[in-house]
Amino acid sequence: MSSTGLGTFVHAASTAAPATDRLFLALLAICGTAALAITCTVLVFAIRYRRGAQVERGQVTAPKALEIGWTLATLAIFLGFFAWGAHVFAGLYREPADALPVYVVAKQWMWKLQHASGKREINELHVPLGRPVHLVMTSQDAIHSFFVPAFRLKQDVVPGRYTGLWFTATQLGEFPLLCAEYCGSEHSRMLGRIVVMQPAAFAKWLAAGLEQPTLAQYGFARFRQLGCSGCHSAASTVHAPLLEGLIGRTVHLQDGRSLVADDNYVRDSILLPQKDVVAGFAPVMPSFAGQVSEEDIQALIAYLRATGAAGGGAR
Ligand code: CUA
Repeated sequence: MSSTGLGTFVHAASTAAPATDRLFLALLAICGTAALAITCTVLVFAIRYRRGAQVERGQVTAPKALEIGWTLATLAIFLGFFAWGAHVFAGLYREPADALPVYVVAKQWMWKLQHASGKREINELHVPLGRPVHLVMTSQDAIHSFFVPAFRLKQDVVPGRYTGLWFTATQLGEFPLLCAEYCGSEHSRMLGRIVVMQPAAFAKWLAAGLEQPTLAQYGFARFRQLGCSGCHSAASTVHAPLLEGLIGRTVHLQDGRSLVADDNYVRDSILLPQKDVVAGFAPVMPSFAGQVSEEDIQALIAYLRATGAAGGGAR
């Protein structure tokens, strides 16, 4: 895709790749220049001041202006790199609102992925070309790391919380997916691939196969089976917060804090209900740790997201 930069040598197949490559090459260039300058100086001095050479060996003090100058110049250069890097980094975590969600559960030693449509994949992720995809990832055991070299993306996948990542694929084809965090004896075999398809072919692929409930529909079924709806519904006699349209809303807590409800908040509320008690409610919810799988929690989140998207003003 990109005619200049690292993409010339290594596949660069996402919108994140060119910016990362530019930063990497700039750092490489400046480090290379500094290393070269130091090496040359060492060589020149080694020859010039070799034993027996007739040269002035007195100590020289650099003028103050020069010392201040090079200190400030290098400071400015590296602060510039910091700002540049922070900008690129922040961009990797600010997913576009229309990104397709894909739920990822890592385990020893495979990647389990699920689309919002309910379609599941193992060690393979099909995505459409040119459309942002947002990964919501967690692990059910050790720490893993989702690494797609061609996309220049790597993100730790951690048990007990969600981490996220987004990308837009810019090239058709198959790209290796690796686990980049040592996670046990089969770590090196925890491999997969990302398959980038034309949007029409992707839609056909997504629709093919057995008719299945969407992730949100499955989440709603679990919402009832687990008894969530017994308390969290308008008809309930138990005083519990209503959850429709929760995600993205600001929640005020008992202890005076407030936060914007996101995936991690929902997850914690299910597993650690005493952690963030909503203001005006008693901390009576039991923990569902051990009763719900990671897939269940992701489905419940997808369901809550759907209530926000569909209803919004419903309640
Ligand atoms: Cu999973 Cu290494």
